[in-house]
Amino acid sequence: MSDLSPRLQGVVTELLSTRARLLSAVRALDQAALDRAPAGGGWSIGEILHHLQLIERSVTRVAAKQVQHAAESGLGPDPRTDSILHSLDSFDVEDSPRKITAPSGFVPRAGLPRAELLDGLASSREALLAQVQAARRYDLTQLTFPHPVFGKIDLYQWLLYVAQHEIRHLHQIERVLAAGSDPTAAAGPRAGARSSIYDLQDLLGDAASRAAAYLGGLPGRPVAPTEEAVRLIERFDEPLPSSPTDPKEVLRLMDTHGSPATMAMAGPRFFGFVIGGSLPATLAANWLAGAWDQNTAFFWETPSTAMMEQVALKWLVELFGLPPGTAGGFVTGATMANFTALAAARHAVLERAGWNVEADGLIGAPPLTVIVGEEVHSTMLKSLGMLGLGRKRMTRVPVDSQGRMRASELPRITGPAIVCLQAGNVNTGAFDPIGEICDHLSGTGAWVHVDGAFGLWAAAVPSLRGLAAGLEKADSWGTDAHKWLNVPYDSGLALVKDGAALSAAMAVTADYLPRAGTQRNPSDYTPELSRRARGVEVWAALKSLGRSGVAEMIERNCRQARRFAQGLQAAGHPVLNDVVLNQVVVSFGDEARTRRVIAGIQKEGTCWAGPTVWQGRTAMRISVSGWSTSDDDVEKSLRAILAVAGKD
Ligand SMILES: Cc1ncc(COP(=O)(O)O)c(C=O)c1O
Repeated sequence: MSDLSPRLQGVVTELLSTRARLLSAVRALDQAALDRAPAGGGWSIGEILHHLQLIERSVTRVAAKQVQHAAESGLGPDPRTDSILHSLDSFDVEDSPRKITAPSGFVPRAGLPRAELLDGLASSREALLAQVQAARRYDLTQLTFPHPVFGKIDLYQWLLYVAQHEIRHLHQIERVLAAGSDPTAAAGPRAGARSSIYDLQDLLGDAASRAAAYLGGLPGRPVAPTEEAVRLIERFDEPLPSSPTDPKEVLRLMDTHGSPATMAMAGPRFFGFVIGGSLPATLAANWLAGAWDQNTAFFWETPSTAMMEQVALKWLVELFGLPPGTAGGFVTGATMANFTALAAARHAVLERAGWNVEADGLIGAPPLTVIVGEEVHSTMLKSLGMLGLGRKRMTRVPVDSQGRMRASELPRITGPAIVCLQAGNVNTGAFDPIGEICDHLSGTGAWVHVDGAFGLWAAAVPSLRGLAAGLEKADSWGTDAHKWLNVPYDSGLALVKDGAALSAAMAVTADYLPRAGTQRNPSDYTPELSRRARGVEVWAALKSLGRSGVAEMIERNCRQARRFAQGLQAAGHPVLNDVVLNQVVVSFGDEARTRRVIAGIQKEGTCWAGPTVWQGRTAMRISVSGWSTSDDDVEKSLRAILAVAGKD
């Protein structure tokens, strides 16, 4: 810092002391949240505004100093700095958001470290203003913090984000200033790439700002994209670019054209299919793992991601109460998880009959019996088809009113057989009687596979474990992490008691590939060789939630589903299933009326739920699977559904 002019040193000192104040503001914020969270109470609007002002004042001070310095040090005067100063000065958190005008068109001069100040200033101001504007749109009555870890993306998190963003930014400025007149020093060992490192920080910072603003805006926007937004995605459809486009512009286009036309699946009131959001830790882990760009096929090539996957697998086996040593593969979703586990099943039962299916295929193989329930998920049939076992040639076992396989109707089994059970029917959430069927099949040599795309997570919750009683007696299990564990797409897990059967079905060798070592090679258990570090987000989810956090999240969603059912039923709309898990199937009368109500609620925008036909009756499916769904979200959605149904 000794080369810096006294004025510049003054700015650095100011930055450092502001950062200290900022940090203590953040700590105060955190402490206050933690103090209140266990009581289950919400923050008052006054407290939030107070903290917002605290942070904003610090930020404004630093920003004003930066601009002043820029104006004094040969860069200015620039009329645009005046406009920034003006908007900083006139910024008043208590005032109407209309007063806030983000400075636009501010282009810093390239090549000078000091330009970084202005560039950073412009982008941090923009991010800050976007945050505050987004906060303004937020329904402040929803500001409850039922759990200090699970707090949804809400105003509090925005504030933390803003503060953290500023702190990061200040670090960056410090580094630039500390580099003095030698701008390359700031970049460290890769000095030659200085400008690209700065560009990358800027680009990734921009992505983070846009992502946070997007997520922050979700609770306040219609869940489905508007027709206008969908119409505008046609802007993507342009001729192949003949020349490069600045990455920042690429991101801007993606955000401008793409974000409005997304379905708010990451938000708190999307109840379609079975869709979880992304827990904050998992989204962040996904980004960092993206930066690592590890092809996680072999341990020795990508030790850290392979190790995180290995640990996540061990934790999951324990969480689900499966036999110790159960092997697993991290795949794209339950479809591939079931496919992968069933490949192991096919290997094992045919091997016992003296046939090597990997070497010799299925032509001429001993006959193999496949048994499924009438309510088998359609993707299971696809998986069986992909394995050459046919989508139609299996034996279907009748089910009861909830879709549970009737154990008494199982056919007698002789020879190689695979029996496919279900933990969590996609409509009702019901479980096949897993333990009973496993006991019934004991001694037959049949391989029992459980499709637990979302239902397997009930096994992680002491109060729900009974639904999956006997789960550990099965031979393999398929599940999703992108559903109820709330990790980003795509993420599924194949779990197989006999790890040798799984690797026999999946492992490959080639002269250029590493030989099996003592450590687990992820690709020995998956259909893919090259693969992203999919286990990282699962690790992050389990690390951030812990056993109690997983159970609390699953239980909360189940309680919320029961509240939906109770509210709908009380209003005279029959719920067609026993709500044992997170699924609610509700009718609004005949098919035409039910479909009108579903279309109506999708259009109204408060929440989103889709249709189904349950045992001959058209119904609406409500699936509560999101970590960020609050009880208020449920009440709000319930009111909206009842209002739409009431108008029909
Ligand atoms: C019971 C069941 N099995 C399999 C699947 C397929 O899962 P994925 O879409 O993740 O492949 C689903 C999806 O909802 C499901 O509910």
